[in-house]
Amino acid sequence: MTYEFIQVHTEADKIGVITLNRPKQLNALSPDLMVELGAAMTAFDADAAIGCIIITGSEKAFAAGADIGAMATFTFADVYKNDYITKHWETIRSIRKPVIAAVSGFALGGGCELAMMCDFIIAADNARFGQPEIKLGIIPGAGGTQRLPRSVGKSKAMDLVLTGRMMNADEAERAGLVSRIVPLDKLMEETLAAALMICSYSQIAVMAAKESVNRSFESGLSDGVMFERRIFHALFATQDQKEGMDAFVNKRPADFKHQ
Ligand code: CAA
Repeated sequence: MTYEFIQVHTEADKIGVITLNRPKQLNALSPDLMVELGAAMTAFDADAAIGCIIITGSEKAFAAGADIGAMATFTFADVYKNDYITKHWETIRSIRKPVIAAVSGFALGGGCELAMMCDFIIAADNARFGQPEIKLGIIPGAGGTQRLPRSVGKSKAMDLVLTGRMMNADEAERAGLVSRIVPLDKLMEETLAAALMICSYSQIAVMAAKESVNRSFESGLSDGVMFERRIFHALFATQDQKEGMDAFVNKRPADFKHQ
């Protein structure tokens, strides 16, 4: 598939990198862009050689939100009947390999929501996050009212959603929205290093870890811990568990075969 609104390449034959590419619109997430993003992510997820996926944007903008021009004239009937912001947007939730958001510049509205749908966010020091939909007479529609409070707590989520203000990278890190801040010129280097580290581990364990952490957002503690325990037990059936523990005991590097 050829892409018009994203760029796609691989690094070290094992990391899938997707760069949002509508620079004139600050990477506003148009329906066509989201179709391409969903297709690229699904393709990387299905590729056995790929161990981790990175989504990034430009220095100025990760993404400034859903495309306001594209939706300005939509009616209730249009968005309800077509289930706007569902198809393709929700694809990311079905991706089983780790997805890192490498965010520089604006991550606003649907851009912030897209970053929050990734497994973790590495932010450049110029990153700015916000849910400014209230200024447009709407509310966040791609999970912002649900994921933001789970990340930063109710008070800060309400502050951001109700005032529409932006927060800088420092505030986002303090609040727990981003896992770390790096200098802008090191954003891809640091994100690739994190992705390479993830790729060096058993892909089965990595996918299981992602599934188990995500379960914590969907279940109560007892059910979540039981889910984790059973997956933990199941990993003892893998060759990679034997390899990882034998390598530790014999003081040698592990060579995981993802089996
Ligand atoms: N949709 C469409 N176009 C957008 C856009 C968006 N979300 N954000 C920016 N653009 C366009 C601008 O219209 C402008 O285009 P022109 O050059 O043709 O005029 C271009 O990108 C550059 O933008 P600015 O001139 O505004 O750049 P700036 O540096 O002065 O400001 C900004 C940057 C603060 C991000 C500002 O562009 C802005 O506020 N953008 C809108 C942010 C927003 O409201 N996002 C939420 C969208 S709704 C949503 O996402 C719903 C949901 O939950 C899914």
